[in-house]
Amino acid sequence: MTSPAVRRLSEWDAERLRGLASEYGTPLYLVDLDRVRENAARLQSAFEFEDLSYAVKANTTRSVLETLRDAGVGAECASAGEVKRALDAGFDGADVRYTAVNPPDRDLDFVVDEADADLVVTVGATDTLDRLADRGYDGRLCIRVNPGVGAGHHEKVATGADPKFGVPYDRAPDLAREAVGRGFELVGLHAHAGSGISGDDLAAHRELVARMGDLARDVIADTTPLDFVNVGGGLGVPYREDEAPLDLRAVAATTREAFGDADATLGLEPGRYFVADAGVLLTRVNTVKPTPETTVVGVDAGMTTLIRPALYDSYHEIRSLAPDGDDREAVTATVAGPVCETADVFGTGRSLPAPERDDLLAVGNAGAYGYEMASQYNSRPRPAVVALEGENDSVAVRRERLDDITELERW
Ligand code: LLP
Repeated sequence: MTSPAVRRLSEWDAERLRGLASEYGTPLYLVDLDRVRENAARLQSAFEFEDLSYAVKANTTRSVLETLRDAGVGAECASAGEVKRALDAGFDGADVRYTAVNPPDRDLDFVVDEADADLVVTVGATDTLDRLADRGYDGRLCIRVNPGVGAGHHEKVATGADPKFGVPYDRAPDLAREAVGRGFELVGLHAHAGSGISGDDLAAHRELVARMGDLARDVIADTTPLDFVNVGGGLGVPYREDEAPLDLRAVAATTREAFGDADATLGLEPGRYFVADAGVLLTRVNTVKPTPETTVVGVDAGMTTLIRPALYDSYHEIRSLAPDGDDREAVTATVAGPVCETADVFGTGRSLPAPERDDLLAVGNAGAYGYEMASQYNSRPRPAVVALEGENDSVAVRRERLDDITELERW
C-alpha cells in the first residue's frame, strides 16, 4: 500500500501550523520528513527496477539529504557545493553524480580531489573532458547528451533542446569513442528534458527516453559496455488544488517501454517530486489594503523567500489559517511581499477569507526550489527551516539575523 500521490495544502493541520508559527516565527519553511520518505517510497515502488537518484538542487537541507540517503537513493549534484553537502550528509561516493554544466575550475578541482570517493562526473562538452584530463581525472565518466527534445512548466526550465546542455545527439557516439580512446572509464549516458513535466510533456519525455535507448545500443555495440543511462528528472507535481497528480506507474511503464532492450540500467533523477508537497511556507499578514482593484494583502515573506512566482509566474496555493476563517466573507486578494519590486507577488485574484492583520497564511508546495532559491536581496535575512517528523519538530536551518547580512563584508 503506497501513500497518496499528492498531499494537498488543505490537508495540513491548521492548528499545528499556527503553533509552529508562534513558536518559531515567520516567515518559516516547514519540511515534513515523513512525507519526503513517502514520496521516495512511491517512486521506488513505481520505478522498482530502475536506479533512482535525488536531484539535490531541489532542497539541500541536511535533514532532507539524510532522509533520502537513508531511503537508499543516490544524489545528483550540480556543483561542488552540492557534492560536498551530499558527501557530508553521508551519501556513499559511489552513489553521487556531479553533472557539470560549464563547470568553474574550482568545481572541477574539488570533484577531482574527491574522485577516490568513486563518484561519477557527467560532462556535456569536449572542453570539460579536456579539463578533466588536464587534472588527471581517472574516475567514472558519463556523457550528457542534448536529446533535441525539451519540456517543462516554463520555457526557463526546459533544458532538453537548449544547446547549453549536453553534446549534440549526433556527436555523442564520437565523443564516447574519444573518451574511451583517451582512457576514461565511460560508464553512462545522461539527458534531461526539463522540469515540471506533466500532461502533454510526457510525449517529449517518452521521445527522449527512446532516443537515449537507441544511442545506448549504438555506443554499447560500437564502443563500450555501459552501466547506466540516466534520463534525468522533471516529474511534475500538481501545484493547483484541483490538478491531478502524475500516474507514476503509467510514467514508469512508458519509460521502460520507450527505453527498449539496451543493456544498461535505466536511471532517473527527480528533484521536485521527492520534496515539493513535503514543504509549506508560513507567512504572516502585516498589511491589509483595500483598493478599487483588489485587496492587497501584505505579508512578511516575499520573492526573497520564495522566488518561483516572480521568476516563472508559478502558481502556489495560498491558504488562510485564521481560526475563524470559515466565518468570514471571502474577498479577492493580491498577496504581496515586502520587496520593492513589482514582481514581488505570490498570487493575484486569490479568494481568501477577509484577511486581517496578523493572520497566518500557508503557501503550498514550497518544499522544492523554495528555501533553496531564497536570497538576501533587499538585505533581508533568510527564514528558518523547521523539520517535522511524526509529532516532533526541530530547527533544521536557523533563521538568519540582521548581522548575518553583513558578516562577509571586509570593508
Ligand atoms: N537533473 C538535472 C540534470 C537537472 O538539471 C534537474 C533540474 C533535475 C534533474 C531535477 O529536475 P526536477 O525533477 O526537480 O524537475 N528552479 C526551477 C526548477 C529548475 C530545475 C533545474 N534542473 C523551479 O523552481 O521550477
